Amino acid sequence: MSQRYTLLLLLLPMLMNTADARKKGFIYEESEVPAYTLPDPLIANDGSAVTSASQWKAFRRSEILDHFEESVYGRRPGKPDALKFTVTSQDNNALGGLAKRKQVSILFEGGDRPFAVHLLIYVPNKTSGPVPVFLGYNFNGNHSIHTDPGIDLSKSWMRKNDNGNKNHRATEAARGKSASRWPVETIIKRGYAVATAYYGDVEPDHADGWKDGIRSFYKTDAQGHSLKREDWSAITAWAWALSRIVDYLETDSDIDADSIALLGHSRLGKTSVWAGATDQRFAITISNNSGCGGAALSRRSFGETVKRINTSFPHWFNSSFKAFNANEGALPVDQHELLALIAPRPVYVASAVEDEWADPNGEFLSAKAAGAVYELWGKQGVGVDSQPPVDTPVGDTIGYHVRSGGHNVTDYDWEQYLNFADRHLGR
Ligand code: GCU
Repeated sequence: MSQRYTLLLLLLPMLMNTADARKKGFIYEESEVPAYTLPDPLIANDGSAVTSASQWKAFRRSEILDHFEESVYGRRPGKPDALKFTVTSQDNNALGGLAKRKQVSILFEGGDRPFAVHLLIYVPNKTSGPVPVFLGYNFNGNHSIHTDPGIDLSKSWMRKNDNGNKNHRATEAARGKSASRWPVETIIKRGYAVATAYYGDVEPDHADGWKDGIRSFYKTDAQGHSLKREDWSAITAWAWALSRIVDYLETDSDIDADSIALLGHSRLGKTSVWAGATDQRFAITISNNSGCGGAALSRRSFGETVKRINTSFPHWFNSSFKAFNANEGALPVDQHELLALIAPRPVYVASAVEDEWADPNGEFLSAKAAGAVYELWGKQGVGVDSQPPVDTPVGDTIGYHVRSGGHNVTDYDWEQYLNFADRHLGR
């Protein structure tokens, strides 16, 4: 075997990793996308045209919200009366003096066992008064976002036994393993606080996870009506708990709770968009590579399909969503209307060019179609007709970019989010 050939064989896996591999049996060519018609967010259920922001607010917004609750994500149980917040640790001199670090437990009451979601917050020291904040769930525990040894090691169940996790629990070796996705110092230096929690505190991410999660903790909703796990879904549980984090942030004098930018990647991007759609306290919502069931249009069936996501992740969506497997055209809504529910608040949709599974162009087309609703307020959406070139951010109230590279959150993505937040939060 020639030396050159051996070298090629050795390099091959590396070269293949540069692109997210295509899965067999799915659409990856525009020419194969089936013909489809998107539901019009500005045609009401009774067929009448919606032409003003006041009509949107008076009834059309809730019609669309109801469709998403009934057919896709399930319903949210409302705000519980009993919530307690405990600051479990505080260090005013964290990150070499750059920030104050606080850890806060959000304690849920009224169930059959103790239940808590643990929040990690960094607040910039070099500012006075309440500051805007980037809030987002992490995939692997708060300790994974930074090597800061003061962060509590999560005791919750971890999905994967890699990156320092063993027997589905974190070990010391897991510290900072997701740090590349969380440029904490950069964010702090730009004048923003960072708040994060582990989504697995709310519900472990597997089909039986609800048994240990908030969906088995509550037997009734805030109004006292019976609440079964099929009434919501894992994504709704995660999204609803983001609202509970906002309940806390509203009480924190370090934080400007009118300036919360919510961000999520991938399944947590789906979660963020649903949270941003349902809770108007999020000033900015950011979808990072959220794909199917997030920002991407379901009707295109490009990359991941409704059938595939319902099969691989049956717990993410509610049971009614299964009726749309290989039947997307029957959905009463499509995902551009989810983005439209965020209007008139700013929303940012980010794709990655190699992340074909998430349908980058479908994410763009969805962001573009949501613009019709933003126009009711005279706000401009993405401002372009077709997907912009790679690494070229566009848009005004609806931001969009397709980054070079694959499924991930990178410094490039953060740079755009920080600029977008500066612009919209008047910094
Ligand atoms: C899978 C899934 C996607 C999801 C992603 C993630 O790839 O098919 O829908 O976005 O996991 O959350 O990482």
